[in-house]
Amino acid sequence: MVELAASILSADFARLADEVAAAERGGATVIHVDVMDGHFVPNITLGPPVVKSLRKATKLPLDCHLMIENADEFIPAFADAGANWVSVHYEACRHLHRSLELIAAHGMEPAVVLNPATRVEFLRDILPMVHHVLIMSVNPGFGGQKFIEFSLNKIRRLVELRRELNLGFRIEVDGGVAHDTVARVVQAGAELLVAGNAVFGAGNAEQDARALLTAARHAAGE
Ligand code: DX5
Ligand code: ZN
Repeated sequence: MVELAASILSADFARLADEVAAAERGGATVIHVDVMDGHFVPNITLGPPVVKSLRKATKLPLDCHLMIENADEFIPAFADAGANWVSVHYEACRHLHRSLELIAAHGMEPAVVLNPATRVEFLRDILPMVHHVLIMSVNPGFGGQKFIEFSLNKIRRLVELRRELNLGFRIEVDGGVAHDTVARVVQAGAELLVAGNAVFGAGNAEQDARALLTAARHAAGE
């Protein structure tokens, strides 16, 4: 089952509740929240206070993508704010196993993210711990970037690895998911589609979320 995770990074932050509601009407079933610290990635966005406000604005799962260097220090604050899923970067966590355990211990679903240059094989030993794996199909930091084509091979490789290990984690993809890429992303095996610019970029989130999800479901044969 393909799901759309609307990334608020491209939304109008002054009208965040309305933007989220529009994406939800258009069929988004997850709200993707990009947390950036200006160190791990060259941009700064938002943190637990915005998650707390979003929690009051929607019942959808809040999928917090932490692009920060010291994730462990902030995990309790994200739990208190009402985050449901928390993903941390393989490249940013010195003790990834500990970070994933900490997320789970705070009652949230743990997930791991890979930058484009990081191989999926590095995850083999911790895959039984994760709710999902997020494959970055752009270098993290900004919305509206061009999709990196070899991400498709990484998604396929992860599907194989999941089968080999007989696991049930979900596969999410983030970056450049739009009308020209969504069919290939779905056919490669991604199930959770993060989209920012394609949903919020034109100021018509309901209509654009619906169109993207329709294309994704068509490609998935749903
Ligand atoms: C980028 C973020 C993405 C971003 C994707 O670092 O992780 O979630 O919003 O943006 P689009 O869909 O515009 O490529
Ligand atoms: Zn993201």
